[in-house]
Formats: sequence, C-alpha cells, structure tokens
Amino acid sequence: MFEKELTDALAVEGLSAQDVQSALETPKEAKMGDICLPCFKFARTMRLAPPVIATKLLPYVEALDFVDKVEVVGGYLNIFFDRNTLAKKAISEANNQNVGASSEGEGKTICIDYSSVNIAKPFHIGHLGTTVIGGALYRIFEHLGYKVVGINHLGDWGTQFGKLIVATRKWSSLEEVAQHDEYFLNKLYVRYHKEAEAHPEMDDEARAWFKRIEDGDKEATAYFDVFKKVTMTAVGKIYDRLKIKFDSYAGESFYNDKMEACLDILREKHLLVESDGAQVVNLDAYDMPPCLLVKADGATLYATRDIAAAYYRKKTYNFYKCLYVVAYQQNLHFKQLFQVLKLMDFAGADDMEHVAYGMVSMEDGSMSTRSGRVIWLQEVLDKAVEKARKIIEEKNPDAPNKDEIAESVGVGAVVFSSLWNNRIKDIVFSYDKVLNFDGETAPYVQYTYARCASALRKGGDVDMSNFDLGAITSDEGYDVIKSVITFGDSVRLAAKLREPCYVTRHIVDLAEKFNRFYIDHRILVDDAPTRNARLALTKAVGNVMRVGTSGHFRSRRNVKTRQTAKYCVNTPRPPTHVRIVH
Ligand code: ARG
Repeated sequence: MFEKELTDALAVEGLSAQDVQSALETPKEAKMGDICLPCFKFARTMRLAPPVIATKLLPYVEALDFVDKVEVVGGYLNIFFDRNTLAKKAISEANNQNVGASSEGEGKTICIDYSSVNIAKPFHIGHLGTTVIGGALYRIFEHLGYKVVGINHLGDWGTQFGKLIVATRKWSSLEEVAQHDEYFLNKLYVRYHKEAEAHPEMDDEARAWFKRIEDGDKEATAYFDVFKKVTMTAVGKIYDRLKIKFDSYAGESFYNDKMEACLDILREKHLLVESDGAQVVNLDAYDMPPCLLVKADGATLYATRDIAAAYYRKKTYNFYKCLYVVAYQQNLHFKQLFQVLKLMDFAGADDMEHVAYGMVSMEDGSMSTRSGRVIWLQEVLDKAVEKARKIIEEKNPDAPNKDEIAESVGVGAVVFSSLWNNRIKDIVFSYDKVLNFDGETAPYVQYTYARCASALRKGGDVDMSNFDLGAITSDEGYDVIKSVITFGDSVRLAAKLREPCYVTRHIVDLAEKFNRFYIDHRILVDDAPTRNARLALTKAVGNVMRVGTSGHFRSRRNVKTRQTAKYCVNTPRPPTHVRIVH
C-alpha cells in the first residue's frame, strides 16, 4: 500500500527508487507502523550510520498527506498511515462494483488454454484444477483490463474414437448412444478395454475405423459427431455449475488441416529427422528426448496439433501471452513443445507458458488414474452438494431455498479446494474439510458475505454525506480498511504469478477481519454518522468479496463465438450471492 508514493518520495539523497522499493517492508507488529524502511542496506552507499539515514529521510515521508506519523527506531523508519485518509479510501469502494480493477492490460490479449477435456473419456477430478484455476485466471486478467481468450483445447482426436465405434457396433447402436449420457459411453469404453485384452484383433478394427474418420468417411464421422455431442452436453452442464466459460472450443481435430504447413516449416529448417520410420525433432542439445511429430504410419500426434494450435492462436489473436493450464505430468511435453517452437523461430515462442498444477487424490486414498478407478467430477460435485444440503437441514431447516443454497455451498466448496493453495501443490480432497463452516473455506466466506448482505438489507440506504470516520478506525476496523484497499494489489500479484490463491487468501483474510470487527462493533446502531460509516465499510467489504470470490469476477462482455455459444455462461454469478445459513 502506497509503495509507489513512498518510493517516489524517498528517491532522494542519492537513493534510487529501486533501492527504496526493494527495501520497504511490512512490519510484523502493528506498533512498528503500517510499513517500514530498514536503512541498513543504504549505509555503504550513503556512508552514514543507519539511524542517521533514517533521520535524514524522515522529513520526506512526514510531508506526505496520507502519513500520520513517522518514527526512527534504530536503523528503521517506521511509517504510520493516516487512518482517516485510508478509511475514506475504503469507503469510496462502497459504490465501486469493480473494486480492484485496473487497466494495466489494455491492448494486450492473453490466451488461456484450460480444462481441455477429452471427448469420450470421463471428465474426472484430475480436470478440476485446470478448469477452476484456468477460469479464475481468466477473470483475474479480465479484471485487469486484458482481453482474454479462453480456449478449451478439446481432446477430440485419437484412437479412442475407433475403439468406441467398435464397441458401439458390437454392444449398442448409434441411436442408443445418442439417447444416453457420458456414463453409458464410458461403460462401452471400459468393456472394450476388457474384451480387447483377449481379442487383440479388435484393436486393428478400431484403428481401421479411426482411419476412416481421418479420411472423412461419412459413416465413421456420424459416430464421431454423436460421441462428441454426448460428451459436450455432459461437460456443458459441469461448466454451467462451475460458472466457467470459453471463447473457443477449437480442439485437436480443428487442427487436422493446419499441421502440414507447420511440418513444412520444420522441413525447410531441416529440423525434422527420420527415426525408425517416424519423424522427430531431435532435442539432444537441450537434454530432452526427441519430440515425435509424425508416426511411421503417417499419423500425427498430440504435439503436432499443439504446434499447429500455437501458430493458429498467434495468427488469430496475436497474443501477448499464451498460457497452458495443464497438470505437471505434462511438464516434458510443454518443454519440448516450447523448444521446438523456438527452433522454428515462431513469433510467439517467448510468450508461451505452462501454468502447471498438482494432482488431486481423495481422502480415502482413491485417485483418478490409470488404475482404472475413475472419480467423475460430476459425482464429486453432487456429493458435496448433498452433504451441504444435510448441513443446511441441520442448521437452518426453515431456509426457503435450500436446494439453491446447497448447490452454491457444495460447488463453491469444491471450487475453493483448487484455489486455496499454490497451484503446484498436490491436494488431498476431503468433503468434511472443504465444507467446514469455521475454517479457511468457501462456506466461511459465503457465510461472511451473507452477514454483510443481511446488515445492508436491514440498514437500508447509506447516507454517504453524513458519517463519522472514528466509528471504523479502531484497530479492528483499520484492519478491515487496509484489507479493502489492498485487494487490487492481491489481484495484480495473482495475475503476475498466475496464482489465483492470492485472491482467495485475501478474501478469507478479509472475512476473518470483518468478522472480528463485526463482533466488537455493532453496525446497526441508532447514531446515524456511526451507522453510516459502518454500513459503508460493510458495503465495501461486500463488494470485495463478491468480486473476489472464485469464478465470479463480473464479465464485462458477453462471450460468444460460433461453436461455443451454447456452453457459455453469460453472466457468471457467485455462489456467494445467495443467502446462506445465518
Ligand atoms: N486434453 C489434454 C488432457 O486431458 C490436455 C490438453 C491441454 N492443452 C494443450 N494444448 N495441450 O490431458
């Protein structure tokens, strides 16, 4: 807070703005000020003792209008802000629906590749991280004025389609599949794998069917279309529940006719070499295995499609950055991809980033991996909602809209679990933990938001021309004030590090501070100036919470594109919008 102003004011006596900026610190104890400047590092260049330097710098800080008091303690300059100035600043956010927004991203486009589910394979818990983190980053960047393009790079190409055609023809029919859901499809897939073990010739058949899809054969394409439709309907429902949207669903199959041009570039640059009939880019010099791009039978691969996608995105969106929110298991894939693009002199090569995240396992030890046991995301959401419903039934059996609340609490809790820690951390998912109303959880934040909303409903209109700042500048109130006005800093940090958890943690911290304030200071008192100040602060807190709750930055535009309109959520609403158990 006020780092910029302080840095500018202190770039004096031979100090550079950078020296000052890197030295500023937030003290551990409130009695040491809101911010402090240790002067030890300057002793050598200034040839003075640290306390002397601090004394020398004191008048420059004292002159600033937002500073109340400055003290020299040892080699430190302890700076206390003027609580009234900050209080006014916080209160001015009461009418700001877009608190924390900035225009730093203006004119820049960021592509975010996230969720990227695989068609005809389960949307499992492993995709929770990419979906939720990607969605949060989308809104964070949008809040900072960037133009964001959310891309669902669907896994809609590959031999699984051939396998499914074989299974459908053996044990079901196109019509039957079209009438059922993704679970039905998955059962066929699982059965195929079981039976193919004993009958390997089925794999030849599957390959032949996939070849027919590749060749554009009508019958094969009809199957492909139905599989895709069934899966997309299912994932569309999940995206609606998670309030996730995309601007493009250009998946792997979209690049079928766009790879040849890339392979030509590789050939021209003599980067493509033959290896056992396949074509690869040798990456020995970078300590990586070769990147396989064309198989001996002429088939292209995941990496080939990613190269084509990179070119297409650069050409179509002219991105400033292109982020891939994908599990860390794919670290090598992205390292290889980015290296190959560099060797190709691809114009966006330095702006590609793999935003990796960790694995999710369930508390009971089950995990969604090759072991075959799949944990469907939909089931996790349903179970969390069911459990939330039970809690509501216990705590507030008379609530009017219990289903709606349960959905918000349950889904919000699951979303929160992916946004609480640094991305890379593996998560052990526990329903009880995420649904705890007293912990660092979504229900706790929702509960606090409901508390704000309730006070504001009861308080009616706030007269902003008649308030007493003294009613909110006690230590508890001051903590809330500081948290409100530093929210934008956390949003910017989250964007810079591609870590939505900084927003999540800020919101939880604000909730804790607000609750502490609320306990000690009645909001709806008779004295109008006191009530107005407290209500205004409550309103500002509510704004920060609404804007900051995961997945729920307000969208400034309606995102619609040709093939995607159906799956877009046009006006994302936070789960926190409903009133929760009071
Ligand atoms: N479909 C892939 C998977 O589920 C993720 C795709 C990520 N995006 C990309 N451009 N490679 O593992």
